[in-house]
Amino acid sequence: MKLNIAVLGGDGIGPEITTQAVNVLSAVGKKFNHTFNFTSALVGASAIKENGNPLPNNTLELCQASDAVLFGAIGDPEFDNNPDAKVRPEQGLLKLRKSLGLFANIRPLTTFEPLLHKSPIKERIIKNTDFVIYRELTGGIYFGDKNVSEDGKSASDNCVYNDFEVDRIAHLAFKAAKSRRKKLTLVDKANVLETSRLWRKRVKEIAKAYPDVQLNFLFVDNAAMQIIVNPRQFDVILTENMFGDILSDEASVISGSIGLLASASIGENSVLFEPIHGSFPKAKGKNTANPLAAILSAAMLLEHFNLHEEADAIKNAVEKSIELNITTKDINATQKFARTSDVGEFIADYIIDKKSVLNHIENINLGQSTII
Ligand code: IPM
Ligand code: MG
Repeated sequence: MKLNIAVLGGDGIGPEITTQAVNVLSAVGKKFNHTFNFTSALVGASAIKENGNPLPNNTLELCQASDAVLFGAIGDPEFDNNPDAKVRPEQGLLKLRKSLGLFANIRPLTTFEPLLHKSPIKERIIKNTDFVIYRELTGGIYFGDKNVSEDGKSASDNCVYNDFEVDRIAHLAFKAAKSRRKKLTLVDKANVLETSRLWRKRVKEIAKAYPDVQLNFLFVDNAAMQIIVNPRQFDVILTENMFGDILSDEASVISGSIGLLASASIGENSVLFEPIHGSFPKAKGKNTANPLAAILSAAMLLEHFNLHEEADAIKNAVEKSIELNITTKDINATQKFARTSDVGEFIADYIIDKKSVLNHIENINLGQSTII
């Protein structure tokens, strides 16, 4: 297969983790005989610094002309600490999502057996957790009218949803539930918000087309608690933009690190793959950030194009890196934590030639024990 992939590293640790995802995809291309062409472009704070625009036209055009977008992270403390800033890095990502029509953001909650004890939640509660969040991505309070009064003393963000915006993601979520454990939970605040009542109405209606999927409802405050006290009850969570943003960060605690969670954003004509985490500015350029969320986002990209064997090769290599403790310091508290590039290199090499990589590691270990 031939794929043209736009690479938008963005800000903070974005470029360094995305580089590892690109290396891993290149390894997959080599191993399985695919041609992946990568073209990079600026977005976010780095684009603002270059030409004042968080989403330059050439970046958007590149994304529109590509088969898929691989995205890093966005955000910079210079802007976070300045509420008066007129242009913000995040506008680049939001405009990109809107312009590409990426209405569904799919965030699987991944757990790895050897990391269960890293979670602040008890192992017996999170063991075998397996759910996926379908987050609406181009509507709601993120995109409604925003206003600040002239005297600067009041502000508003409008939350709007249209029926068709609910329907299209609901269908995707029901289809996903149908192929999984057949349970869909709509998370909303229907006891308070009109938009939530619209969601309930539409989702109840759509449920009729999926009689084998069990539909239930949770208010978002309760859902926030249930994710921590009983995460195994969930299969597919469907929710609006803002609730999905918050709940997915919360859910990442189950996996042991937010650096492990990948996502796919799906639209009519475009697809984008990105970690759920932010730009982690403090770690920028230090080669210490966890590249696994970016690498697992690359696996989701392959799955989207039905390259399942290839995606599994990435996932197996990721599991092996975790098993062998070739992991960054967020999940490896020992002195021997690996650097961002070590993790990426191991995974790429393992995909190309498992045996020789494992032999090599064994030799290093043997060598070390002889020296000692
Ligand atoms: C995410 C991020 C973004 C969001 C930010 C960077 C605008 O938190 O993708 O979850 O809020 O959607
Ligand atoms: Mg977020």
